[in-house]
Amino acid sequence: MKTKEILFLMLFLTLFSQASLENTTCKKCHPIITEEYQSSMHSRASIFKDPVHKAVWDKHPDKAKGHYKCAKCHTPSDHALMAGKTKLTDNAVQENEPISCQQCHRIQSIEKHAKANKNVMSKKEKYFFSADPKRKGKEIEFKEESSLFGLMTKTVGSPYHKIDYGNENFYNGNVCMGCHSHKQNGKGFTVCDLEVKQNDSKETCITCHMPKVKGTFVNLKDSKTHAFHGVNIHKITPELLSKYIKLSLNKEANGFSVTVKNEATHTLFPQPLRLNQLRINIERDGKTIELKPVNFMRVIGTNGKPSMPWLATEVLKDTTIKAHETRKVTFDTALQKGDSVVVKFGYYIANPKAAKKLGIQDPYATEFIILTKKRFEIE
Ligand code: HEC
Ligand code: HEC
Ligand code: HEC
Ligand code: HEC
Ligand code: HEC
Repeated sequence: MKTKEILFLMLFLTLFSQASLENTTCKKCHPIITEEYQSSMHSRASIFKDPVHKAVWDKHPDKAKGHYKCAKCHTPSDHALMAGKTKLTDNAVQENEPISCQQCHRIQSIEKHAKANKNVMSKKEKYFFSADPKRKGKEIEFKEESSLFGLMTKTVGSPYHKIDYGNENFYNGNVCMGCHSHKQNGKGFTVCDLEVKQNDSKETCITCHMPKVKGTFVNLKDSKTHAFHGVNIHKITPELLSKYIKLSLNKEANGFSVTVKNEATHTLFPQPLRLNQLRINIERDGKTIELKPVNFMRVIGTNGKPSMPWLATEVLKDTTIKAHETRKVTFDTALQKGDSVVVKFGYYIANPKAAKKLGIQDPYATEFIILTKKRFEIE
């Protein structure tokens, strides 16, 4: 046996000895990606990790019936729960990998439905889809290639799994749409809709939310960069995303206007819980004038009154900024030479009014988060 083979054998033995959590195996060879993943919302999508999801679930009528229907998107990797063998309980999967690596990398296609889309998973073991334009269409199996008459050897593929580079959904971002497209409540009312419009944008869900960042994607190779897996807009990625929101200011006859240009291919903050705000401060002669914040939100309800998502049957108001939209907001405060205008575009994870009703107190959900800001000097 060559030393390399012995090494692989040892590696395999350690891999098989720890089978409880799926991601433990991936971590051995993909440590950087796994570490990023651990701070992503995909690793915290369960009620045990996300206080906002928990607060809504606690009030949800399905809770009393003991039927956690949310699992389909929030904790699909809890296989025993999904198969109806166990009830929702705090276990290692719920805590660490409610949406595991495999849960995305085995998505073969997306079935479209009015209620919510559905992920169709590949049944093949140790077989993962991924994207690489240079290998597009290929299926890569592990092999050693020798060159220079056998003096040099190099390996291709992964010793643990096959890779399929032929799944278009991993190139155009459609892989995200099984969970993220839209969702209806029991009354057939659409509670949440990203309203994706690709238009001619070169950016996709993947290029914006999982951009290439420094560090190799696997131990056995030095790829220099890898696709960022720490998807978490609130804590980690406001900086990654702020460049897609462009702010500008125009002085006008009786005041000024601010425009917000949304380059995202979807509605901003479509979640009914979010409150998106534009905040303007004018700094003049050492004093700060605070203008009234402008809200962008989608209010849903029943019989003309706001209600919880599972009861809603109508949209009462929708001022959210849509895909590729440029929204202009005018202010009637006259600007003076020497003023500095500070424009902040941000949001609350939970609209303070809703947070109160739901009993959400966690500062993570109740503090104003700035997505992007800009200072304008008036001349
Ligand atoms: C069709 C898939 C799907 C189902 C089913 C689903 N969700 Fe979600 N949910 C999502 C996605 C995707 C997000 C993230 C969207 C976002 O952040 O804009 C989300 C986000 C949320 C949030 C916001 C979390 C936060 O951090 O602000 C709450 C609350 C929530 N879901 C509650 C529920 C509850 C309760 C159920 C079950 C009754 C449920 N969801 C079922 C897909 C789903
Ligand atoms: C024994 C090491 C090893 C383990 C364990 C392992 N991988 Fe890999 N993986 C590799 C190697 C090596 C490559 C790169 C192969 C190549 O580029 O030729 C790779 C590539 C990949 C790719 C494709 C990267 C690309 O080029 O786009 C994905 C996706 C992936 N692995 C996912 C996983 C997941 C999910 C797990 C856990 C279930 C896992 N891997 C476990 C070694 C491993
Ligand atoms: C051009 C860049 C861009 C593209 C393409 C893009 N996004 Fe976003 N996305 C953003 C920005 C900017 C935000 C922050 C504003 C917000 O939270 O709505 C965001 C926020 C989100 C959020 C969080 C919403 C919330 O408030 O919780 C989700 C979920 C999301 N995107 C999913 C997707 C999916 C799925 C796709 C592919 C259909 C996609 N994005 C494509 C830029 C982009
Ligand atoms: C939310 C879905 C999702 C989850 C969860 C996820 N991935 Fe990925 N992963 C993707 C997508 C989409 C790509 C393709 C990005 C691209 O265009 O290169 C990718 C790319 C990769 C690559 C290739 C990286 C590169 O730079 O080309 C590896 C390796 C990988 N993932 C491993 C993992 C591992 C390990 C985990 C768990 C710790 C994981 N993924 C969890 C969606 C996911
Ligand atoms: C198996 C279902 C599933 C898939 C597939 C999936 N997501 Fe998610 N995603 C979720 C859920 C559920 C949440 C909300 C977690 C929470 O807030 O509790 C979420 C949250 C997010 C968020 C918001 C993070 C935040 O900080 O609130 C973004 C952005 C996002 N996903 C992007 C993506 C992208 C990009 C893809 C495709 C590469 C993808 N997701 C694939 C289920 C999924």
